[in-house]
Amino acid sequence: MERVLQQHAIGLIAGLLRERTGQVISEDRRWRIDRAIEAVLRKRGIARNGDILTLLTQPDAAAVEDELVEALLNNETYFFRDRQVFTQLATTVLPALCRARTESRHLRIWSAGCSTGQEALSLAIMLIEQGITASNGWTVELVATDVSSGAIDIARRGLYSRFEIQRGLSVGQMLRHFNEQDDGWQASRQLLSMIRYEVGNLLERPMPGPPFDLILCRNLLLYFDDTAKRAACARLHAALAPHGRLLLGGGEGTLDRATGFVAAAADCALYRQAGQALAA
Ligand SMILES: C[S@@+](CC[C@H](N)C(=O)[O-])C[C@H]1O[C@@H](n2cnc3c(N)ncnc32)[C@H](O)[C@@H]1O
Repeated sequence: MERVLQQHAIGLIAGLLRERTGQVISEDRRWRIDRAIEAVLRKRGIARNGDILTLLTQPDAAAVEDELVEALLNNETYFFRDRQVFTQLATTVLPALCRARTESRHLRIWSAGCSTGQEALSLAIMLIEQGITASNGWTVELVATDVSSGAIDIARRGLYSRFEIQRGLSVGQMLRHFNEQDDGWQASRQLLSMIRYEVGNLLERPMPGPPFDLILCRNLLLYFDDTAKRAACARLHAALAPHGRLLLGGGEGTLDRATGFVAAAADCALYRQAGQALAA
């Protein structure tokens, strides 16, 4: 009987995650739900796994649901993830976007599903290294969103462990842009001031403001079912400027033309809106 209840709970929680975030947990990764249940119960001093169903019917069920969803999100990230992609951004994509914005000298960039901030910080470092900064007459709005409020809290703090700081940054980047503290490495004020972090669900409201020149939405759509992926692509399409570029993660498969996007590079997951000419 306990096993039946546990299976029921797992199905319920998988449905909750899908409904809230679009994320699907495949059968072979359902153990992650067991782990999430255990963590939520442990926090409340409850030992028996089946009792999660009781918790989900009590007055504070909303808090339990939030905790389960947070525990199930995969926040894996690191600095300059897929470094060759950042090299391509710096050497080809950014220069083309800057040419498209020569008059306004204003760029808008969105890191969608930014997790704990490493992707947005990598972009900020890249902008500094490329001289796309206020001192050269550029204003850059760098917005980074994630559905996980826990991840955004960490991103806003900008404090990384020795392990995290060593994943992807060169020693020079680490020393130039982070300060060592007793409890880790703190991102410089300059870096943090370049990024606006917000809790945001890619599937809920459209991004406010003018369209973005560059959107990174990496390693997040691969966990979506088809319906959620289509909805997310519609949001991304609406948020991208006609000359803009969308970058997905390397192993996420390709977007078909029905999404309104077509490939903009042969060797990485860079897309543009179908029907728009490539920026010079
Ligand atoms: C695997 S991480 C990828 C982080 C970063 N983009 C990278 O590639 O290193 C995926 C992130 O997407 C977030 N996420 C999942 N569903 C989301 C949704 N519906 N809206 C916004 N963020 C979402 C997760 O919380 C997680 O932090």
